[in-house]
Amino acid sequence: MRVMVVGKGGREHALCWRLNQSPSVWKLFCTIGNPGINSLATPVPVEPNDVKRLADFAAQERIDLTVVGPEEPLTLGIADEFAARGLTLIGPTKAAAQLEASKSFAKQIMREAGVPTADFAVFDDLEQARAHVRRMCGPMVVKADGLAAGKGVAVCEGVEQALRAVDDAMARGVFGAAGRRVVIEERLAGQEVSFFALCDGTGAMALGMAQDHKPVFDGDRGPNTGGMGAYSPVPQFDASLEERIMSEVVKPTLGVMGARGTPFRGVLFAGLMVDRGRLKVLEFNVRLGDPECEALMMRVEGDLAQALLAAAQGHLCANDFRLSPKSAVCVVLASRGYPGAYEKGLPITGLERIDGSAPSDAKIRWAIEQVRVKVFHAGTASRDGCLVTDGGRVLVAAASAPTLEVATQAAYEAADMIEFPGKHLRRDIAAKAFAANPA
Ligand code: AMP
Ligand code: GLY
Repeated sequence: MRVMVVGKGGREHALCWRLNQSPSVWKLFCTIGNPGINSLATPVPVEPNDVKRLADFAAQERIDLTVVGPEEPLTLGIADEFAARGLTLIGPTKAAAQLEASKSFAKQIMREAGVPTADFAVFDDLEQARAHVRRMCGPMVVKADGLAAGKGVAVCEGVEQALRAVDDAMARGVFGAAGRRVVIEERLAGQEVSFFALCDGTGAMALGMAQDHKPVFDGDRGPNTGGMGAYSPVPQFDASLEERIMSEVVKPTLGVMGARGTPFRGVLFAGLMVDRGRLKVLEFNVRLGDPECEALMMRVEGDLAQALLAAAQGHLCANDFRLSPKSAVCVVLASRGYPGAYEKGLPITGLERIDGSAPSDAKIRWAIEQVRVKVFHAGTASRDGCLVTDGGRVLVAAASAPTLEVATQAAYEAADMIEFPGKHLRRDIAAKAFAANPA
């Protein structure tokens, strides 16, 4: 089939890389991405958010399946546009994408579906929100209702901080229209995990679980980013957690969305907090995570494109999609200053050393045959034939191996071979797994 991927970062590079290996894919297109993506897929000269022109392109090029990476095109209605033209796309409609676009909507659905989540209240009025904060006292979380580029959530120690967060969103308009409404909820403790399910409107299958690392510095310090690294599977949670998430979260949510006349078709991403076996949903997203996708794609076996096509056509059926039992780790190489301001256009070196390279550490040499290393491009560009930085998250060094320990070593070896001025990475990706299960 002819497949088009929409998006242009590390997640989309990983998707293109894996889709390229799907036996059923014989031609791959991607919206103008980066040098990594462009080496695998024919570039489509249309921006990911230009949904009408993407539909024109898909019709003209007879694309059999379009796979959407980021949330913006989905919240802009790319699925509706494609459906109206009889084109097949995996991703929810604009109405169903409200699960990510509006936190109050997602909370309402969770309440109706009986999905476990933090206690919450929703406010459109500043004074009422302030009064509620004073009544809550203690730790709490203030969330801008709409999409705020991952910056709309304030995890607060107490009243003072929460009042500032409410004022920022509702009085000072820091998040624009996205912050006119806020959700205020109890602050939960535990470990976070990302779970992904491929949904066809009524049924779902698990795509897997990964743990992200959102804060920019080691030990989960510093401001939140899009994600600094991920690993999969997450051994500190036992296998029954996945089944519980399917039955306690995914299935009831699909039921309520269907009953409302807005069935969910696409990848449902539940961000969860797990505390001694108790799980609660922090948020829903309507797409694969970045960098979780990079870790998952290192484990995917079988024909991913066929599984996505079946879900897009509304009849998820038994297919040969599976995750390998291997572990995968990915480490994000970021620009100095990210998630704040950063410089672009800095030269990247060392990538050529990684292709075909073997891990050097004696401890992992035994597994060389089994270790796979791959570097995904996130924010890179080609200038005068040289690779340069072009974003906050620049590259993602990923590895898969029979054990998490080996995968982690291999990912860091690759990350250390790459150089660019101001390169920043976290050194503790997957450390929580080792703390729970000493290797
Ligand atoms: P969200 O966009 O809702 O996932 O929130 C972003 C981040 O804020 C999450 O990844 C958590 O680290 C944190 N967070 C959100 N809600 C809560 C909560 N109720 N309790 C504790 N931390 C939270
Ligand atoms: N890594 C978290 C996200 O993609 O939202």
